[in-house]
Amino acid sequence: MAKCVLVSGGAGFIGSHVTVELIEAGYDVVVADNMSNCDMTCFEGVQKIIGRKLPFEKVDFCDAVATDKLFSDYKIDAVIHFAAFKAVGESVEKPVRYYKNNLGSFLNVLEAASAHGCHNVLFSSSATVYGEPDKVPVTEETPRKPATSPYGATKQMCEDILNDVVKATAGTEGEIRGILLRYFNPIGAHPSALIGELPRGVPNNLVPFITQTAIGKRACLSIFGDDYPTPDGTCQRDYIDIVDLAQAHVYAVRRMLDGKMEKGCEVYNIGTGRPVSVLELVNAFEKVNGLKLNYKFAPRRAGDVTAIWADPSLANKVLGWTAKRSVEDTLASAWAWEKHIAGK
Ligand code: UFG
Repeated sequence: MAKCVLVSGGAGFIGSHVTVELIEAGYDVVVADNMSNCDMTCFEGVQKIIGRKLPFEKVDFCDAVATDKLFSDYKIDAVIHFAAFKAVGESVEKPVRYYKNNLGSFLNVLEAASAHGCHNVLFSSSATVYGEPDKVPVTEETPRKPATSPYGATKQMCEDILNDVVKATAGTEGEIRGILLRYFNPIGAHPSALIGELPRGVPNNLVPFITQTAIGKRACLSIFGDDYPTPDGTCQRDYIDIVDLAQAHVYAVRRMLDGKMEKGCEVYNIGTGRPVSVLELVNAFEKVNGLKLNYKFAPRRAGDVTAIWADPSLANKVLGWTAKRSVEDTLASAWAWEKHIAGK
C-alpha cells in the first residue's frame, strides 16, 4: 500500500509543487491548508496536473483539536510542514502574529504526529537561518547567525524545537525523526503553467516583481542596491527552480520512510550552488523571454544580506538529489505562469 504524506500548507506555492512530485513518485497525499494566504487556484491546478481529485482538508494548524483530528482521520506516515506566514517585513511589524502562528502550528503538528504514531516530520526551513554568512558558499555546518526578523527567528526556533522533540522521543512509542530542508531562493513555476507563485498585493520577492512588471501590473522594478561588494554591485542569491526544490522533498521523504536516516534529525541545504546577482537574473529574464524590463536602481533594502549561496553537496551525496534546471528555463516557466494567470 502506498505510504501517506500529509502536506500542511499544501495549497501554497511550495506545497502545491511538492504535492505534484509526491503523487508522481507514487505516494498518497493529504493536502491541508487554512487558506489564509492563498485561494484554490494552485490546489485545482495540482488536480489538473495529476488528472484526479485529491483529499483536501481545510485545517488551521493553530487549532490543536482540528490538527489532532486530522491525524485520527488519516493514517499518516510522514508530514511535511509548510503552513506558516512568510513575509519578512510583515513579521517585523507583527511579531506576535508570526510567533503565535508559525510556532503554534508546528507544535500542534509535532504533538499530534507523536501521539498518532506518525514518526516522520520534514520541516521547511530557510537559508535565512545563516544570516549574513562569514564565508560563502554555506554548508550545513556554517554557524547560524542571530535572526534579523521574527520570521527568521521562527525558522530557527522550529529547527530547535524539532531537534529537541527528536531527542526527547527517541526510542519511545511516539518517536519522531526529523529532516530540516534549508531552502535558498525558490523561483519559477511548474512546466504546465498550472501552478506557481500567487503573491497577494505587492510582491516582496524578486521574481514575482519581475514578472508582474513585464506583464504591466507594476510600472518599474527597483533593484535594491548597486553598491554591494559583489562583481556587479547587486546582491547575489542561489535561485532554485521550484520543481527541483519540490523533488528534494521526495528524496527526503523516501529516506525517512525507507528507514535510511543515520541521525534522528538531519539537515540539508537545498540550493544549486550557483550565485546569481539581481542584475544577472534580470538580464537572463529579458534574454530568455525576448523582452525588455523597465527597471531602475534604488537604495539598498533594509535587512538584505550581500551574498549567500549553498554548498548543496550533502544533499547531492546523501539524498541523491541535485538541482537540474537552468536559471533560464526557470525564468521562462515563471513568465509562462504570469501569462497564464493574466489569461494571455
Ligand atoms: N530585490 C530587488 N527588488 C525587488 C525585490 C527583491 O532588487 O523588488 C532583490 C533583493 O534586494 C535581494 C534579491 O532581490 O537582493 C532577492 O530578494 P527576494 O526578496 O526575492 O529574496 P530574499 O533573498 O530577500 O528572501 C528569500 C526568501 C525569504 C528568506 C530569505 C533569506 O524569500 O523567505 O530569502 O533566506 F527569508
